[in-house]
Amino acid sequence: MMSEKKNKFYIKTWGCQMNVLDGDKIASLLESSGYEKTNSLDEANIILLNTCSVREGPENKVFSELYRLKAFKEKELEILGVVGCVAQQEKEKIFQKAPFVDIVMGPRSIMHLPELIKQAKYQKALKVSSDEDTLLFPPEILNRNSKTKASITVMEGCNKRCSYCIVPETRGREVSRPLSSIIEEVKMLIDRGYKEFELLGQNVNCYKDGKNNFVDLLDEVSSIKGVKRLRFITSHPKHFPIEAAKLIAERNNICKYLHIPMQAGSSRILKLMKRQYDQPFYLELIDKIRKIVPEIALSSDFIVGFPTECEEDFEETIKCVNLIKFDTIYAFKYSPRPNTLASKMESVPKNIAKERLNRLLVTQHEIQKELFQSFVGKTLQILLEGESKKGNQYTGRTDCNKIVNFTSEKVLKINNFYNVKITRSLVHSLIGEL
Ligand code: SAH
Ligand code: SF4
Ligand code: F3S
Repeated sequence: MMSEKKNKFYIKTWGCQMNVLDGDKIASLLESSGYEKTNSLDEANIILLNTCSVREGPENKVFSELYRLKAFKEKELEILGVVGCVAQQEKEKIFQKAPFVDIVMGPRSIMHLPELIKQAKYQKALKVSSDEDTLLFPPEILNRNSKTKASITVMEGCNKRCSYCIVPETRGREVSRPLSSIIEEVKMLIDRGYKEFELLGQNVNCYKDGKNNFVDLLDEVSSIKGVKRLRFITSHPKHFPIEAAKLIAERNNICKYLHIPMQAGSSRILKLMKRQYDQPFYLELIDKIRKIVPEIALSSDFIVGFPTECEEDFEETIKCVNLIKFDTIYAFKYSPRPNTLASKMESVPKNIAKERLNRLLVTQHEIQKELFQSFVGKTLQILLEGESKKGNQYTGRTDCNKIVNFTSEKVLKINNFYNVKITRSLVHSLIGEL
């Protein structure tokens, strides 16, 4: 029995798209080093938690999961590892909080995992340097979990210092991959059958490899034959080049979808957040982008209850959401992060923050209901992502990133494009028929 269990690993991932891709990288690296992936905790002799520390909530989940896994360590589990952003943030403190953990490895150290596993067999293994370059991950061994969208890290890290944010600490300084290596990887992925690509970076539009900038990146990648759909995430408003909007308008294969977090409506709060723009700047930018690409779908992140936020500040957020009418927003209560500037500022009472978050979500709900309603009767092209077990129920995504659930009597193929007539709308998805 013991031998069957040997060299099987289980990995659980939280967090953003980049962390999800890191999870795929870790799994691929271990598989190419002779380990086998399992989806059963009981079967695994190596368990890895690939963590996110952007807010307190996800971080706490990691620790509650760890205490649950302690029981496994007391039985046959050989190695328990914490990797990703919580690992980078907490470093050796994780061994103090949870002495049964064997490996702590930050997101920039992925390539070291096989040697850390060997080391962990007789001593604690820690690797949290921020100078290592995960961007050098060998693309040919990387197997993505998604069979319809290939995410590619083009830059990693963040040189900003937004006063609330832990990401510059966990992901390190910005580094960009050479454009030539990105192009090579995209071509290889086209040969593997991918049609949709998503370029990832904490501030993707700050991409620069010494010769090329973000606009060159978009231009070159969208020109590769076989790239049917191109997305990119996340754009920082301060650095969004208007030439990028022109490319989005011109190229059929660049998705008319832009995630460009505003974070707050109030210029006073934006200043305290150290976002490097104010409300008029953001509104003007959106205006300019919409003049060039009128049909573009926009989405944003918002933080509510940032320290010192008063009712008037919050109403500026509501005003902007009503004015801009985003296709979707991701809104969260402010969560203090260790050693950040904002964590030392005067906090907003929890119940007030909660109430404001609800008001923001209700406001967006109404906007979104109407916006999604306007798609009814239209025919949209989707890339097929999934099917129900019993068949004839399918799900896909439009260019503008909307989920469409639909029925078809004909059997359809995952990763192909289909035209779907929208018959009904919900708040977060559309319903249609082939
Ligand atoms: N680089 C991106 C955001 C990366 S973090 C940008 O600058 O827009 C993803 C989102 O998490 C942020 O947009 C923000 O809305 C949210 N976030 C980050 N730190 C947070 C905190 N301390 N509390 C609540 N939300 C936070
Ligand atoms: Fe965090 Fe700001 Fe960097 Fe975005 S730009 S990752 S919010 S510090
Ligand atoms: Fe979370 Fe790290 Fe991504 S903190 S959001 S997993 S960069």
